[in-house]
Amino acid sequence: MQPTRVLTGITTSGTPHLGNYVGAIRPAVATSRVTGVESFYFLADYHALIKVQDPARVQRSTLEIAATWLACGLEPDKVWFYRQSDVPETTELTWLLTCVAGKGILNRAHAYKAAVDRNREAGEDDDAAVTAGLFMYPVLMAADILLFNAHQVPVGRDQVQHIEMARDFGQRFNHLYGEPAGRQYFTLPEAVIEQRVATLPGLDGRKMSKSYDNTIPLFAPREQLKKLIYSIVTDSRAPGEPKDADSSHVFQLYHAFASATETEAMRQGFLQGIGWGEAKQALFERIDAEVAPLREKYEALMAKPADIETILRDGAARLRERHAIPTLRALREAVGLRDLSQVAVGSGGERDSKPPLPVFKQYRESDGRFYFKLVVGDRVLLQSAAFDSPREAGMRIAAIKREGFADADATLLPGGGVTTDEIRGALQALAIAEAEKLAAKTV
Ligand code: TRP
Repeated sequence: MQPTRVLTGITTSGTPHLGNYVGAIRPAVATSRVTGVESFYFLADYHALIKVQDPARVQRSTLEIAATWLACGLEPDKVWFYRQSDVPETTELTWLLTCVAGKGILNRAHAYKAAVDRNREAGEDDDAAVTAGLFMYPVLMAADILLFNAHQVPVGRDQVQHIEMARDFGQRFNHLYGEPAGRQYFTLPEAVIEQRVATLPGLDGRKMSKSYDNTIPLFAPREQLKKLIYSIVTDSRAPGEPKDADSSHVFQLYHAFASATETEAMRQGFLQGIGWGEAKQALFERIDAEVAPLREKYEALMAKPADIETILRDGAARLRERHAIPTLRALREAVGLRDLSQVAVGSGGERDSKPPLPVFKQYRESDGRFYFKLVVGDRVLLQSAAFDSPREAGMRIAAIKREGFADADATLLPGGGVTTDEIRGALQALAIAEAEKLAAKTV
């Protein structure tokens, strides 16, 4: 069975805070350990450019976020962990999708509409200070998702509309370019909204968010963490006065980090009139107990940015090889960005007039032994010597597909009049066709 592909993008425009940790990082790292899931985590740095036009900040945030996810337990050899801008196929696909995306749909995107509304209120032109980047944000995001045929995208409510748009663009593309045989280029993704995950209150009690400037940085040093926690706004009830746990932000934060038993004990404490100072001290110790070991890893990672660079580049290189490059090859072919040498001269250049694909043919001779040849039409490009079993012949074929054809030897000879270049070309065409088949496989 094909594993479920789950894809998560993180915009690199800030410093991770406790709200990000509880709401996104912690659950996502837990999901990454579930078997039967192929996870994709990427740093959405192209998206960051829409909001942040300070290069040093983009770089800093990318480093901090990468180090954070690694410190929190993401294992780059078990999941795909990469930086969006290291996968240039993303921008190429963005254009292909741009050409099928309805402009009217983009007009309705929440973030864009909010900008227009603000402009109208201020008596400005609708599009004053709105970049085309902001307008195109959903298309870039659709490319992130569709490029890897993700099945599921865990998101907050504010992002659900973007997933719907990705489905819409993917569907349009499938409809426009899908073959009568029903070839589906893109899997249509589903938004997964984590119901159980709490949104954390910030220092002032509103949702913890960079835009309210009320956050507690995830890896604030211990002393700063303590100071921030002590600055959480509370009411003026004195120690000894019973307090309502459920309406308390201190309690909500505690709940997000504590076990069920600890939480229950704290609830009793509130009923019995725990003082705010004592409650905050307990909250601080509880958070620090979870965060301190991660903070230590984070600091070690931040001290070696070159190692993080290597991890990210390696992830992207493998991912491109495995998914992005073959997928784009198939998509370019689908829309007609094609190899002109494949046009049959004198015909209309229709898709059907492509020359036949080379194939490996395995067979058994009357001597009882096993052979294979690479043929295109009825032209023999390569002829093998005898093998004792079909398995050995198959392994040799696999090796040729993997490593290419280097030189003729006694066990592998070109057909009459066949050049090495012709063989290489045929092997390449075969590899492309197989990559396209792989890329087009959807559930
Ligand atoms: N827009 C997302 C956010 O701000 C980040 C993001 C970019 C993303 N591309 C994505 C999320 C693809 C999921 C899938 O949170």
